[in-house]
Amino acid sequence: MNRLVIVSNRVADLSSSAQAGGLAVGVGDALRQRGGVWLGWDGQTLKYEEPPEPRIRKIGPVTQATIPLTQQDYEEFYLGFSNSVLWPLFHYRLDLVDYKSDFLDGYRRVNGKFADALLTVLQPDDVIWIHDYHLIPLASELRQRGCTQRIGFFLHIPFPPPEIMAAVPKHRWLVESLLDFDVIGFQTNTDLGNLQHYVEDQLGYQMNGNRIKIDDREVIAGCFPIGIDVDAFNQMAQQGNEEVQIEMHRRRVLGRQQIIGVDRLDYTKGLPDRLRAFGRLLELFPELRKNVALMQIATPTREEVEAYVEIRKELEALSGAINGRFADFNWTPVRYMYGTVPRDALAALFRASQVGFVTPLRDGMNLVAKEYVAAQSIDNPGVLVLSKFAGAAEELREALIVNPYDSDDMARTLCHALTMPLGERQERQQALIDRIRKKDARWWLNTFMDALENNQYTPANC
Ligand code: ADP
Ligand code: F6P
Repeated sequence: MNRLVIVSNRVADLSSSAQAGGLAVGVGDALRQRGGVWLGWDGQTLKYEEPPEPRIRKIGPVTQATIPLTQQDYEEFYLGFSNSVLWPLFHYRLDLVDYKSDFLDGYRRVNGKFADALLTVLQPDDVIWIHDYHLIPLASELRQRGCTQRIGFFLHIPFPPPEIMAAVPKHRWLVESLLDFDVIGFQTNTDLGNLQHYVEDQLGYQMNGNRIKIDDREVIAGCFPIGIDVDAFNQMAQQGNEEVQIEMHRRRVLGRQQIIGVDRLDYTKGLPDRLRAFGRLLELFPELRKNVALMQIATPTREEVEAYVEIRKELEALSGAINGRFADFNWTPVRYMYGTVPRDALAALFRASQVGFVTPLRDGMNLVAKEYVAAQSIDNPGVLVLSKFAGAAEELREALIVNPYDSDDMARTLCHALTMPLGERQERQQALIDRIRKKDARWWLNTFMDALENNQYTPANC
């Protein structure tokens, strides 16, 4: 078996019990299975350039290779082109794009820096798997430096339709760079279809089945929905976490139900809309007051980007307003926490919650939806309420699917979830767990690797 070398903007700390972000969790699960190298930014910013050699640290079967960025890289590449241009655009939020030409220079420069660092650790028989929107030009940078290994790319976030892509400065260059990979993976068929439209209509290439012919090369473009390690997550949920168990017992005695939301505090996650829908639930169904609470845990993320500062303020004001309006001396309707929770506590909280409320306005996949399902017991499962704009909705069809822009729809669906009879909950749970087991973390890794190493790809029924 060839050595697998993974590259992503950030490398997760695999020795820590708390991880936030689908990439960190998905790639972590995959690498723990197969072993290999994981190269990326160490999260540090320096005043001066350092030599390209990464710092090496071994954790079990994984070698982590990390590099710092300069303050200028951080501002132009990370905060700038990656998170103020590509992130909002790829999530269909043209209104939030904040572009300066320095950002594109920084994006190109840092992709070159990643290529230089990677060349210092690469071996001739390695296969390279690059992740996410920060590193779209990396294959092209590597080829320019003479790299001949097979290189794959997986996009964790949505790929927008051509009309939206057209708003990305130098979008033709960006998509041409994407085509320098040997395999390009997307979360959903919708994303794949958007790439097909772009390459056929804007670039004039033909996509036959899942192959795009470019001169004498062929690129595979496919749909590889990311999965989780279902058994490991279920086990964590079963083992429980002492504090969560005590809290669950208290709620049981009081006869109260819990709705849970867990996300990075990102404007794509639809958090204000979620809170408004919960407020609407309490308005439309007064009999539920004092019997249900919403727990929202939100991890800090990209706090130096203005749009994230705004969304945090909005969320805090909204949760305060709902509590001010409905709370009683012995009942707090919204429990809002700004922080990151260890995975075992998260799994136990999912299991202890009657509804998983996952309502992004746009999301590549959304692993929280899969984790919520994995955490349930079939004896008394909770109900997943899922936005139709999450990539996961292409697969998880037995969830209650909602429109996150429609508070009344969400409020009524929440009421339906909270009152659903056991038989129906079990039927839905069985179907959902079968789906996430079929396309789990191992399936994701193996299917992508088959395309990358063996040039084999059969479209999955996503
Ligand atoms: P994204 O990649 O956009 O952050 P996903 O839902 O795909 O969204 O992945 C988020 C991952 O991060 C999940 O594994 C989830 O459990 C974890 N996570 C999100 N928020 C928190 C939090 N507040 N505490 C702990 N883990 C979190
Ligand atoms: O795909 C989701 C993602 O953008 C990952 O690329 C990233 O690791 C994660 O969210 C967290 O974002 P950040 O690294 O900017 O904190």
